[in-house]
Amino acid sequence: MEPRKTIAILGTGWLGMPLVRALAHRGHAVRASYRREATRAQLLDLGADPYPIDLPALSGPLEVFLRDCDALVVTLPPGGRRLREEATTTYLAALAPLADVLTDGLHLVYTSSTGVYGRAAGGRVTEATPPAPDTHSAQAVLAAERWLSDRAARLTVLRLAGLFGPGRDPASFFASGRTVAQADAPVNLVHQADAVAAIAHVIGTGATGTFNVCAATHPTKRAFYGTLSQRAGREAPIFTAGGAAGKLVDSTALRTLGWVPRHDDLTLT
Ligand SMILES: NC(=O)c1ccc[n+]([C@@H]2O[C@H](COP(=O)([O-])OP(=O)(O)OC[C@H]3O[C@@H](n4cnc5c(N)ncnc54)[C@H](OP(=O)(O)O)[C@@H]3O)[C@@H](O)[C@H]2O)c1
Repeated sequence: MEPRKTIAILGTGWLGMPLVRALAHRGHAVRASYRREATRAQLLDLGADPYPIDLPALSGPLEVFLRDCDALVVTLPPGGRRLREEATTTYLAALAPLADVLTDGLHLVYTSSTGVYGRAAGGRVTEATPPAPDTHSAQAVLAAERWLSDRAARLTVLRLAGLFGPGRDPASFFASGRTVAQADAPVNLVHQADAVAAIAHVIGTGATGTFNVCAATHPTKRAFYGTLSQRAGREAPIFTAGGAAGKLVDSTALRTLGWVPRHDDLTLT
């Protein structure tokens, strides 16, 4: 039986909410942020303590949110598509109130993205590969990693690959008639349940550092999305050639620490 911890989760959306469920299920005391009443009700149903927090404007409750907490998980998204050039400034402004409330004993877990490596990265990409973010979101996320590492005594950065799972079916990522560019490139995806398990794993072990979180198999986009659309009875997307030398995100480091994903085989054979 794991020792009971008090864990705060900032951001309870598509990834944060099942994380609340999983951690509460394991018997941890879970505090969770919300911005909407419907989210508050869901959190209460899951047995979590809801805190109204909307950063940076509504940051007052952060102090009690984090008081005597063992771990804080930050899952706020960078919003690069919406905010474009403003994404990094806006994201760092949202995180800024944390600077006053982080304590040395707190284990901070940040859900970053493998987007930080950039689209030009090729071959096997490990945590030692230099980041080269080339989207507004990836630039904001890398800036957040650096901002947090300057302020958190115990930090785990989980660089998540493309997320899929309930409500985010890869079969619908590319609708019929849409073009999949660089269709010979490998896919780098991770299932919601495995991302949740990775977060729970680093909280349980206390492992700090930076880790890639990605399924072990990397079929080409052509094979993966082609098979999925075929299975869904849809017309295949349009594939354009290229990308065979694209990046393969390597998550050996986290596996070596004991993370065991359940959705590793994406070959669809
Ligand atoms: N999608 C991917 O493929 C992918 C890949 C790699 C990494 N990631 C990372 O995975 C993490 C989780 O993503 P997700 O899909 O769960 O995002 P999501 O569904 O958009 O959930 C984000 C949560 O954060 C809350 N939130 C947003 N801005 C906030 C603010 N300023 N103050 C307080 N709360 C705020 C949202 O509240 P509301 O519900 O009220 O909006 C929501 O509960 C993010 O860190 C993202 O960067 C995602």
